[in-house]
Amino acid sequence: MLANWLKNAHSTVIFTGAGMSTESGLPDFRSSTGLWKQFNPTQLASIDALNNQLNDFMHFYQERVQSVQLVKPHKGHSILAKWEEQGLIKGIITQNVDGLHQEAGSTHVAELHGTLRRFHCQSCGKSKNREDFIKQLTQCHCGGKIRPSIVLFGEQLPKDAFEVALHLSEFSDLFIVLGSSLSVAPANQFPLIAKEAGARLVIINEEPTDLDYYADLVINERKIGEALSAVDQQL
Ligand code: APR
Repeated sequence: MLANWLKNAHSTVIFTGAGMSTESGLPDFRSSTGLWKQFNPTQLASIDALNNQLNDFMHFYQERVQSVQLVKPHKGHSILAKWEEQGLIKGIITQNVDGLHQEAGSTHVAELHGTLRRFHCQSCGKSKNREDFIKQLTQCHCGGKIRPSIVLFGEQLPKDAFEVALHLSEFSDLFIVLGSSLSVAPANQFPLIAKEAGARLVIINEEPTDLDYYADLVINERKIGEALSAVDQQL
């Protein structure tokens, strides 16, 4: 059924969460082995942590920055990049900060929560490179802290990514969620915006999500790569 919907849709949008990257070896956040089962996000992934718990913040993010450098996209990422090239999907809205969609070849990607592959000064906003961040000895010339360009709890989403995601959602007729608990706002509003705009909503996730009730199709699948591969073979 999903393969037919994908073939007949005019504007398919993919929405991904951390469950899209676990098959590449990165942890998600809220499943039984998720990061937030080991760490408290408000004490680490927040603007307050950057301002008041700098050592804990730096240790946590230096680990995550290095881990995204070590992993590779899996077949699910490659299939999405192929579908974009074939004109089957319009774009990807991702909550992920690992850059794996782009590494697999996807080009139209809205990174709602920023990326661990870029860095900037917290005070003057100047772009910085990874070495500056990893070393962290060389503070910015202005004396500000160097940080990853991700959205911390308590911060606004990047305006451009938000607007791209809004446009994609409002004009989609098929909206497919892959690997997200859909528990974090405002990111979790986009599937509802698409649904209200008349899109079919599909959720592929290992566990039930907060928005399953609104979906036209829910596939509780342990491996997203396998699910996408099965659809790809029916195209
Ligand atoms: N296949 C299918 N589902 C999977 C897989 C997999 N291989 N791996 C994990 N999942 C599912 C988990 O069961 C979970 O329900 O993916 C979902 C991931 O949910 P979360 O861990 O909550 O991640 P996400 O929805 O992306 O979190 C949103 O929260 O902490 C913030 O900024 C962070 O972007 C993140 C946001």
